[in-house]
Amino acid sequence: MKKDASLIVGNWKSFILSPKEGLQLIKNVDKKLPRGMKNTVVVCPPSVLFGSLKAGFKGKRILFGLQDVSEFADGPHTGETSAALARAGGAEYVIVGHAERRASGETDEVVARKVRAALDAKLIPIVCVGESERDKEGHYFSAIEKTVQGSLARVMPNELSKIVIAYEPVWAIGAPQAPDARIVAEAVVYIRKTLATLFDRDAALKARIIYGGAVDATNAVQLLSEGHAGGFLVGRASTNAESFADIIRVCQS
Ligand code: PGA
Repeated sequence: MKKDASLIVGNWKSFILSPKEGLQLIKNVDKKLPRGMKNTVVVCPPSVLFGSLKAGFKGKRILFGLQDVSEFADGPHTGETSAALARAGGAEYVIVGHAERRASGETDEVVARKVRAALDAKLIPIVCVGESERDKEGHYFSAIEKTVQGSLARVMPNELSKIVIAYEPVWAIGAPQAPDARIVAEAVVYIRKTLATLFDRDAALKARIIYGGAVDATNAVQLLSEGHAGGFLVGRASTNAESFADIIRVCQS
């Protein structure tokens, strides 16, 4: 992964309803990518679309990721996709512990096992962390700290360079507006500090921290520069070629 450029990840969630729609979307995004692009662009389609997209899309400038992965290496786990299969199928990234999965019961412990499974299969986990609500007393800091600690419980310090942390405050996901860049900056610094305490300072500096929640082309530049985000995890806006390409374009350094 290029370190100085931004990492921009599109999470298609369940918005795309046919292979044709998915293929059209990725081709349209590809066409709109800026020349000489330095950013790393990843799309995470629903896993059932993976094969047809890999077969139908020949572009080299968009990488693939999954929206989730099994905590188990293999075996009798109906409905699960193993990290090894995801890697063999052409995925390079995987979102782990998204708020929408945590909302259906995924715990930090499970997330930690999924992160481990991803690393073992040479996938880059994009580990989502973020408070569900804010309070004047600042208790949300301990919520962030607890999630970071729990989710990375099975990671070694030298693996932080192979991990992406996505700060996604639950209240900002799908919201009409992203938070002020200062709020994002504060969280990015806090997550980095937490990593330095849990691991060590050098290792902490190697982890990429991106932001997710209502990102669009109007707020992206500020969230990068003043919010100190190393890129974005984009939901809804990534399912529209124009909006996603606009975000990528404004992030072009
Ligand atoms: P949103 O979603 O961009 O639609 O707010 C972000 C996410 O869930 O990753």
